[in-house]
Order: sequence, then structure tokens, then C-alpha cells
Amino acid sequence: MQSSLGNAVLAGKVAFIAGGSSGINLGVAEGFAAAGAKLALISRSPEKIEAAARALRDKGYDAVGTAADVRDYAAVEAALAATATRWGPIDIVLSGAAGNFIAPAAALSANGFKTVIDIDLLGTFNVFRASFDHIAKPGASLIAITAGQAVQPMAGQIHACAAKAGVNMVTQCLAMEWGPHGVRVNAISPGPIADTEGMRRLMPGGEAEAAYIATIPLGHYGEKRDIAELAIFLSTESARYISGAIIPCDGASILTGGSQSNFRFT
Ligand code: NAP
Ligand code: COA
Repeated sequence: MQSSLGNAVLAGKVAFIAGGSSGINLGVAEGFAAAGAKLALISRSPEKIEAAARALRDKGYDAVGTAADVRDYAAVEAALAATATRWGPIDIVLSGAAGNFIAPAAALSANGFKTVIDIDLLGTFNVFRASFDHIAKPGASLIAITAGQAVQPMAGQIHACAAKAGVNMVTQCLAMEWGPHGVRVNAISPGPIADTEGMRRLMPGGEAEAAYIATIPLGHYGEKRDIAELAIFLSTESARYISGAIIPCDGASILTGGSQSNFRFT
């Protein structure tokens, strides 16, 4: 199979990845590194982010990890500035930090709703807004990680649905406002990706999970490398006329209305 990974298509580029200590975003980080980029990763946990960066360095990649909460604008700003000092001008920014859990609306506190809005939506605004002075140049690629919840209402997911719908709008508003600077802003909407925290939290397991998989037109979960391949493409010259796009990478699962949590709440 042809792959962008390892083809040095991002040689000389610097990528900043928010929420990069695990899962899909770490998979994208590794893909960027395999394609030649230097990496700066942030997440809340100093231990997790340093371990992720160390594992990448052990594979021979240039990677640093810094603890920063995307809800803290000053911390994000400082991490971006440190990245530019360390690796040079930033070319790619990925905003993928998120929090999620299943909670029916009637059992969700205002603070529970706000917490997910703050991490996913405010966090994405903070990461992109704080990036502006670094990436306001032709060729820069900003990528948000959204989710099917943005367009598909799901039971037990009012917080994630509202937050990710906002992420889509942040993506498209910035694509309009920052396009004149030559900056492209896109979002990737992963479908169910195997071996991730998101799936561990949302999937019921057992027969209900088998029934869910049967609704995915391609018939199986995706892998982290599927998201990495798309993120790499979006950050290359090949994608130079793609901006403001919300691109599903989901085996067409959204088309069949696949809602894991609906198994529990409908
Ligand atoms: P994950 O491994 O839990 O990734 C979440 C990342 O965000 C972690 O690195 C976490 O690290 C970081 N994070 C959480 N809160 C943060 C905060 N306030 N500030 C900074 N970093 C924070 O989960 P995942 O399943 O791979 O999900 C990754 C992304 O893909 C999310 O945007 C999710 O919505 C999206 N997505 C996932 C799926 C799926 O199938 N898994 C499907 C659709 C969309 P710390 O704990 O160290 O902060
Ligand atoms: N059901 C209902 N409410 C929940 C909940 C759940 N499973 N988990 C947390 N909450 C509520 C808490 O009760 C609290 O509200 P309260 O003050 O009214 O009681 C609020 O959410 C904040 O919880 P807290 O644990 O203080 O938040 P945090 O900022 O430390 O952690 C989370 C954020 C809750 C999203 C946590 O699950 C997390 O860190 N997630 C990151 C990993 C992840 O979700 N990965 C999948 C990405 S798709």
C-alpha cells in the first residue's frame, strides 16, 4: 500500500500538537515525524507528555513534550513561543485535546457540560488563536480534530455534540478570516478508531458493539495511521487549495447514523 509515512514530505516543517500524549493525536504526531517534521507536543500531564516525547525521540525523531492545559491561554502561548525558539517557525498546528464520557443530559451537571466545552471548544480557539502570530504565513496548516458528534446528535453526548459542533465553526470561521494570510484551516472527523481512549469510553462492548460495527459501511474500525495519513496530506503542498473543509475519515460510519451511545440511551 502506498503511504505518505516515511516519505519526508514534511521535511523541514515544525508541527505543534495539542493533546499529543496519547491516542489519535500521538498517532498523527508520529506520522508527522515519520514524514520529516520536528514536533512539539502538549497535554496536561507532565509524565504522559514527557513519556510520549521520549518514545518518539527513542525512534530517532525530533520531539519535545511540555505540560500545558489548553484551557489556560497563557500556558498555550508560552508553549508555542518555546516551540518557535527551539525548532524555528511553526508550520503546522493540530488541535486535538478533548475530554469525553457518556452522561445523559438529565444526569449531567453544568460543570460537567462546561468542562467538555472548555477543553474541546475553548481549547481549540485558544490553540489556534495563540498560534496566529506564529503561523500567519502562506503554507501554514491548521488542523482541528472534530468528531461525528458535531453533525450527528447522540444520546449521552450533549456536551461532546455541542463542543464539536463549535469546533467545526471555529475551523470554518478561521478558514475565512485567515485565508487571506495564506493559512489553511481544516478539520478531520475521525470515525471509530481502534485502541483509543475515546472508544474505550463510548463503546458498550459485547453484542451491542458487534451490532454497531455491522452498521459501518466499510465494516471495521479505523486505525490511528488512517488519521495520520490524512493529516499529513492536509499539511503538504498537495492540499494547497483545501481550506475550511471538515473531512470525515470514518469508513462512512456517519452516513448510517452510527451512534455508539444510542445503544444505551434509546
Ligand atoms: P485520548 O488518547 O484521551 O486523547 C486526548 C488527549 O488530549 C490526551 O493526550 C490528553 O492528555 C489530552 N488532553 C485532555 N485534556 C486536555 C487539556 N485540558 N489540555 C491539554 N491536553 C488535554 O483520546 P482519543 O480517543 O485518541 O481522542 C483524540 C481526539 O480524537 C479527540 O479530539 C477526540 O474527540 C477525537 N476523536 C476520537 C475518536 C475515537 O475513535 N477515539 C473518534 C472521533 C474523534 P492529558 O491527559 O495528558 O492531558
Ligand atoms: N459523567 C458525568 N459527569 C462527569 C463525568 C461522567 N463520567 N466525569 C466527569 N464529570 C463531571 C464532574 O462530575 C465534574 O462536574 P461537577 O463539578 O459538577 O461534579 C466535571 O465533569 C469536571 O470533572 P473533573 O474530573 O474535575 O474534570 P477534569 O478537567 O479533571 O477532567 C474529564 C476532564 C472529565 C473530561 C476527564 O474525563 C478527562 O480528563 N478526560 C480526558 C481523556 C478523554 O476523555 N479522552 C477521550 C477523548 S474523546
